Amino acid sequence: MIQIYHVFKAYTGDQYALSDVTLEVGKGDFLFLIGPSGAGKSTLVKLIFCAEQATRGQILVDGVNLQRLKPSKIPYLRRKIGVVFQDFKLLGDRTAFANVALALEVLGHPRSYIDKKVRQALRLVGLEGKEQHLSRRLSGGEQQRVAIARAVAADPVLVLADEPTGNLDDEITMDILELFREINRRGTTVVVATHNRDLIECVPGAKVAMLRQGMLVASGAREVLTLRLAADAG
Ligand SMILES: Nc1ncnc2c1ncn2[C@@H]1O[C@H](COP(=O)(O)OP(=O)(O)O)[C@@H](O)[C@H]1O
Ligand SMILES: [Mg+2]
Repeated sequence: MIQIYHVFKAYTGDQYALSDVTLEVGKGDFLFLIGPSGAGKSTLVKLIFCAEQATRGQILVDGVNLQRLKPSKIPYLRRKIGVVFQDFKLLGDRTAFANVALALEVLGHPRSYIDKKVRQALRLVGLEGKEQHLSRRLSGGEQQRVAIARAVAADPVLVLADEPTGNLDDEITMDILELFREINRRGTTVVVATHNRDLIECVPGAKVAMLRQGMLVASGAREVLTLRLAADAG
């Protein structure tokens, strides 16, 4: 689903936010991108989403070479990708329904189709009955559920989440992770970037890629990496 080859990213001068990162994410994978603050996680997410361009190297997303992608084609790529952020990025004065519907309206779908997809997505995230609530009146966990519904409403092949549980307490964090697992079980590739290493314990079968100072220092099956981390600590 995602192929990253020898990617470098410098925002300014010769300070590299990413250095020679090579990583592959398979179709249907659940990948945790972990590492301390400043490691380059958000930068990598932005590159995959075409919000930033790599300085060097190559990235393919669902077969599309991002370095060769014309700016006018970026919206087509983004239709395949659902994105979730730490701060939800909802329109607070609009309802849960309206927030999700917006993502489909920009694609020009007919009203009846949009209504059906929005209801489906809000049901998936457990917000049935709260469709008409203003999003700013919802709890943090519920707001993140709306954001996830918005991300998946158009049936993306890939969901990218950047610190999706950063503003949520532990119990809600588990619920949100469970939701990403369910989305992944339905066949969608999921990438979760987080500084919270504990999260990887919650998703059996997940893969993990670890960044430190812009470099990929480890990657592989969660179980293997957990052993390695334990050995490092001990
Ligand atoms: N827009 C930007 N302009 C300049 N430097 C940036 C920008 N965004 C991130 N950086 C720098 O790139 C490095 C990686 O940041 P980031 O990708 O946000 O890491 P993480 O998400 O792992 O915390 C940091 O040193 C950060 O200061
Ligand atoms: Mg970040």
